[in-house]
Amino acid sequence: MQNYLLPPRIEFGAGAVQNLGEHVKTFKCQKPLLVSDAGVINAGLLAKAIDALETSGLPSATYSDIEPNPTDMSITHGVEVYNSEACDIVIAVGGGSVMDAAKAIRLLTTHEPPLDPYYADVGGVERIRGDMPPLICVPTTAGTGSEVSQGAIITDTSFNTTDRWRKRAIVTPFNMSNIALLDPGITLGMPPALTAATGMDAITHGIEAYVATKYHPIAEGVALQALRMLSANIQKVYHDSGDVTARGEMLLGSCMAAFSFQKGLGAVHSLAHQLSTDAPIPHGVANAILLPPVMEFNFSYATEKYAEIARALGIDTRGMDSSEAGNAAIDKIRTFNTELKMPIGLGDAGLDKKKIPKLGADAMLDHCHKFNPRACTEADMVALFEAAF
Ligand SMILES: [Fe+2]
Repeated sequence: MQNYLLPPRIEFGAGAVQNLGEHVKTFKCQKPLLVSDAGVINAGLLAKAIDALETSGLPSATYSDIEPNPTDMSITHGVEVYNSEACDIVIAVGGGSVMDAAKAIRLLTTHEPPLDPYYADVGGVERIRGDMPPLICVPTTAGTGSEVSQGAIITDTSFNTTDRWRKRAIVTPFNMSNIALLDPGITLGMPPALTAATGMDAITHGIEAYVATKYHPIAEGVALQALRMLSANIQKVYHDSGDVTARGEMLLGSCMAAFSFQKGLGAVHSLAHQLSTDAPIPHGVANAILLPPVMEFNFSYATEKYAEIARALGIDTRGMDSSEAGNAAIDKIRTFNTELKMPIGLGDAGLDKKKIPKLGADAMLDHCHKFNPRACTEADMVALFEAAF
């Protein structure tokens, strides 16, 4: 039996954030907890959300101590603010880290702390109920798509697998936001490097989801359309930060790509998840570097699908056989990486080569590669890190 989950509501359009207060009222809620971070505040974006709430006559509380890789400790503090301020709804204004933290905070407002029993690797999905306050997500980057994904990645400071903290996932259908407010006006000021990294994360979601092994034809169709939109616009937004039409295509495309990865992700994400805390290399940059070697590793297991991806990436494949077209898709990713000024390899991005054997072992613990079209061994993971070095 298959279960396909659709996001409850996506509102898309420039100025969508101005409707925030009215959305809060439709849930009959009176005091939101705004979850955000310092970068979003400094960019003046949280103020837009607060203004919208005040226009609707709504007070709010803010919790903004969210790190780039949110820890269980910051979740605990966020829940304390939610309770002490008597909030009744959670609004995330930020990128993937903020949205993931908001999901975990919301969980612990109605579920007994700590987070430990709710992680996916200990069967947490069975323990998570739907009785949680509403969640509205306002993404400020176009990449993670966390507003419609079922996962929240939290750095567990109590789980010391090797010599560092481990990233763990909380996965539940209830993690999809009740409303995703996609306002391209919010993403206009994103600097080029962040635009490139988050955009390549979204493209990686679309590619890994499309070739992932679960049977999910809805997600396959959405993944291809997401790739069309993302590949046609990523260079535009990199070179012209004020192109609101292209920003909108990237924002909606990244949301669609994240929706599609309920079909599964792949080895790129299992490898990249090891780098953000240890190297540290931003998630999107790690994905961009790892994607071509993983596509080569998978190639004979997904040749026809890579050929279809080539067409979605805008390549004219007439006269090519599947193998030539699939290889053209890999070349196109390398072209994007060059034009978007990505580091030329993981070494260039700051990885210490001596860490590769341990990172390869840890990558095997990550759940994403279970849906990779080609089964991965620890030796494969190590070889992929070395190929991307
Ligand atoms: Fe990702």
